[in-house]
Amino acid sequence: MNVYLNGEFLPLDQARVPVLDRGFVFGDGVYEMVPVYDRHPFRLDEHLRRLQASLDAIRLANPYPVETWRERALQLIASQAFADQSLYIQVTRGVAPRDHAFPPGAVPTVFMMAQPLVTARPEQKAAGVCAITAPDVRWLRCNIKAVSLLANVLARQQAVDVGCAETILLRDGFLTEGAASNIFVVRNGVLLTPPPSHLMLTGITYDVVLELAAANGIAHEVREISEAEVRAADELWMTSSTKEIMAIVQLDGQPVGSGVPGPLAQRMDALYQSFKQQVMRA
Ligand SMILES: Cc1ncc(COP(=O)(O)O)c(C=O)c1O
Repeated sequence: MNVYLNGEFLPLDQARVPVLDRGFVFGDGVYEMVPVYDRHPFRLDEHLRRLQASLDAIRLANPYPVETWRERALQLIASQAFADQSLYIQVTRGVAPRDHAFPPGAVPTVFMMAQPLVTARPEQKAAGVCAITAPDVRWLRCNIKAVSLLANVLARQQAVDVGCAETILLRDGFLTEGAASNIFVVRNGVLLTPPPSHLMLTGITYDVVLELAAANGIAHEVREISEAEVRAADELWMTSSTKEIMAIVQLDGQPVGSGVPGPLAQRMDALYQSFKQQVMRA
């Protein structure tokens, strides 16, 4: 597998970053994860816009203009032996003696890799997954796609420890998001999801789902959702670039709705798959 590091394309096992990189020492960096279908990156412009927003939020100048990102990403994608990929992009504040304050003159470290894309198997989609809930103990800038993911790592592991796929995070009695996904609730035929804020990352998939709901006349509301509404959901979904639309059929050991993926999840998944196909053909 080839990767991209600071202007060079090279095999993964030859890529090296100095230990004083601030990504390693402080988690001082941001990232993106772009799904690539048949060598077509999905919503690359949107991912690059979100990368810019994350860089702005951590006060790190974008090392490349959009055109350079696009060219180098496409070059990396083209160089892999496999067609469906997950393109990982990371920018850190670079290498400098360890000191919390920004190092003057440090050059950002830019890393990209394109791994084989692992999406849900059809039988997994058909069965749905289980999730648990946990208090959202993260910081108040969750809209930044920061590489410092310790709280998310611990939250996801809590789910994995009990054989579940995701931990749904609740803050002050309200739904924020999943450990590595956004969460949608269906109640009485209406699709609900929390509004973008500093308490969650606005997913690219989240945006696509809302666009598809609007374009297809699916009733939806973007508003705060209480824990009680989550627990009384007819359907619950997690969404992300790799999980796409995944039905959660059990929450904290209780069935969600009828305990199988609901009709709206199946409809949205079909809309999402055909949207992907259209975009790839365009
Ligand atoms: C915390 C968090 N929220 C939401 C998402 C979903 O974002 P996207 O749909 O862009 O993959 C992710 C993706 O990894 C995430 O880590």
